[in-house]
Amino acid sequence: MTANERNAAISEYITATFVHENDALGKAKKSSLQKGIPDISVPKAVGKLLYMLSLLQKPKRILEIGTLTGYSTLWLAQGAPDAEIITIEFDPKHAEIARSNFKRSSSKIHLLEGDAADLLTDMITTKVEPFDLIFLDADKDSYPTYLPLIIALSRPGTLLLSDNLIPREAEINSPKSTDVQATGVYAYNTLLALHSRLETILVPTIVEKWGRLDALGISIVLPFKQETKSVQKDSQGL
Ligand SMILES: C[S@@+](CC[C@H](N)C(=O)[O-])C[C@H]1O[C@@H](n2cnc3c(N)ncnc32)[C@H](O)[C@@H]1O
Repeated sequence: MTANERNAAISEYITATFVHENDALGKAKKSSLQKGIPDISVPKAVGKLLYMLSLLQKPKRILEIGTLTGYSTLWLAQGAPDAEIITIEFDPKHAEIARSNFKRSSSKIHLLEGDAADLLTDMITTKVEPFDLIFLDADKDSYPTYLPLIIALSRPGTLLLSDNLIPREAEINSPKSTDVQATGVYAYNTLLALHSRLETILVPTIVEKWGRLDALGISIVLPFKQETKSVQKDSQGL
């Protein structure tokens, strides 16, 4: 058994034992596997983790960047049934399927169609209320661009979740410069690690189909000038 086969078996075991999807989630996952849609929704176990983090955070306002067919949106919504959820999607085909999946949910989900950087900038300009939970799962090369926009839409205590923080097939922390997605993700990881207003850890996850390891970033937005970061920048010589 290769390491990836063992990881895939572990993922299958965890999912079969601990993940139970309702009808809306099952249909959203299925629609993300249909022809013409990239098979890139979060693994089922990551969906369950998003749900539990949403349940713990008790958010009133959730922002998701990267909807696809709404599978992760519905997990987040299940953890916070009364929350107002704004989810952003660029591709009209994905948006259309997501909208029909959201009809099976009683949550207040608003899908904004368009480019995430433009829509986030609009929200900052119009001074929308800050979000309590933000899930980033869109184009990886733009993650570093999104971070300051996300911070501007946060408050102290906001939970920032960022998916796919260990890029596939790239050398760990030294991807080829031509691999813009991996380069973007490692630049983002460095920004997360050094940010004075973020406390972050990456939690390894398993990409269920291939058994490859990935990671979900979990960050808490700190108040300005808080001295509670576990590793202070000075002690790293930074
Ligand atoms: C990984 S998928 C999201 C998966 C979804 N969160 C889930 O787990 O069910 C990324 C999505 O981001 C969308 N996307 C990519 N670039 C974008 C951009 N610049 N603005 C908005 N959405 C974008 C893609 O069309 C795709 O549907």
